Amino acid sequence: MAIRVKRGRIEEEPADAVVLSFFEDEEELQKSVRLLSKKISGKIGKIIKDGEFKGKANQTSLIHTIGELPARRILLVGLGKKKEFKIDKVRQASGVASTYLRRIGIKKITTALHGDGISGVSVSDLAQAIAEGSILALYQFNEYKTQNLDEIKEVEELVIVADHDLDQIDKGAKRGEIVAEATNLARDLVNHPSNYVTPARMADAAKDIARAYGLKCKVLERRDMERLGMGGLIGVAKGSHEPPKFIILEYNGGKKKTNPIVLVGKSITFDSGGISIKPAEKMEQMKDDMSGGAAVLGCLKAAARLAIPLNIVGLLPATENMPGGSAIKPGDVLKTMSGKTIEVISTDAEGRMILADAITYATRYKPAAIIDLATLTGACVIALGNHAIGLMGNNSDLTGKIRMAGEQSGERVWELPLWEEYSEQIKSDIADIKNVGGRAAGTITAAAFLSKFVENYPWVHLDIAGTSWNESNRSYIPKGGTGVGVRLLTQFLLDYV
Ligand code: BES
Ligand code: ZN
Ligand code: ZN
Repeated sequence: MAIRVKRGRIEEEPADAVVLSFFEDEEELQKSVRLLSKKISGKIGKIIKDGEFKGKANQTSLIHTIGELPARRILLVGLGKKKEFKIDKVRQASGVASTYLRRIGIKKITTALHGDGISGVSVSDLAQAIAEGSILALYQFNEYKTQNLDEIKEVEELVIVADHDLDQIDKGAKRGEIVAEATNLARDLVNHPSNYVTPARMADAAKDIARAYGLKCKVLERRDMERLGMGGLIGVAKGSHEPPKFIILEYNGGKKKTNPIVLVGKSITFDSGGISIKPAEKMEQMKDDMSGGAAVLGCLKAAARLAIPLNIVGLLPATENMPGGSAIKPGDVLKTMSGKTIEVISTDAEGRMILADAITYATRYKPAAIIDLATLTGACVIALGNHAIGLMGNNSDLTGKIRMAGEQSGERVWELPLWEEYSEQIKSDIADIKNVGGRAAGTITAAAFLSKFVENYPWVHLDIAGTSWNESNRSYIPKGGTGVGVRLLTQFLLDYV
């Protein structure tokens, strides 16, 4: 879908459908809306007076104008209470309106700049949220459908109409488009099944980005990993016939000698659990265990398109976790690239073992920060559900920046304590550490495990197990892979500048 910003007045705009937004507690109609309502015999005022439409968050009401206005239809959408306003309400309203209009076959959507005039919110942020909400909501994954393709509806264009600050609005819309498209790339990678998205395909996706936007990409093969002593990654890969890949994607937008921010993404293209095999129920969802890696790729693509003036490195340890005849077994001991040894209690706690090597590799860059994203623990789903990313780290400045980016991007994080007492649970009798610390505080002990490999670099771990997959359609997040992390990290990088 193309996005365009157009100078004009919404009440004068010829269109198939115009989207207007309202606050729940709006005492009086905004001037442009009043003018517009007057032209259609006060219809908007009546609908509101009758209580049919109250402006509650994401509420909709469609009005046919029947020749009284250049626009054929008006879709009202609610922003909720004014004092509860946050930028995500615009994203949500735009998403709800866009999917509504797609459902009734609209190809070109014309929209007002929702929330315009609210103090403290810039028009470029509003335009970004409108673009993001619309593109993210209209995402569909139909790659494997062969029947009734003619029934698939698509919106072709979104036009934002405004009569002031067009430059700023244009900038915001462009930013929203870039971030949303990068998110949809991550969603595609997650939604493709694991017989398509193998470690080699993850590497291809990284190379595609490198080629298109001038990044550096290097892919380490098993023999390279052996040379580096990446026993964690090699160990996990042993049960699978798919060759593992260690993918390195470097974007140099900053000054030559400035230390990079390193993003590490767990890329288990299928997690069967290995010898500690998972129950069959819902196992098909474990194709999403590469969501961290997908987010890192999306983020680097967005960073390059936005020309963010920073050096950023993406590291993706990629493998399947399978129970083949050569697979690692509970009780085995692996030696990681750091030299530290791991006792494998469960082969299903594989993510932390591949991340251990990736984090050690990250330290080679003397990074300004290490941020890892991983669908790491079922315990995170239990603790935080689907609405918050679990956050743990060793640096409050970095943590604070991520938290702020979470509020702005709508991908919110919640911190769990990473006190040293938790490390007691991962002490091993025969190795340096063990990969499972019991059922208590499973999300934290996983992070405690990772912390043993970060040395003294500022580091944040983001557990996206609860947020990477969506069970039912939400305002702008359709069922399936969510692409979580792309918006959060891109916003973090933009702010970091
Ligand atoms: N990929 C899973 C975590 C996961 C579980 C993500 C459910 C999304 C939904 C991870 O590799 C795993 O299996 N973790 C184990 C660790 C345990 C054995 C200590 C878990 O959480 O059960
Ligand atoms: Zn697992
Ligand atoms: Zn896993």
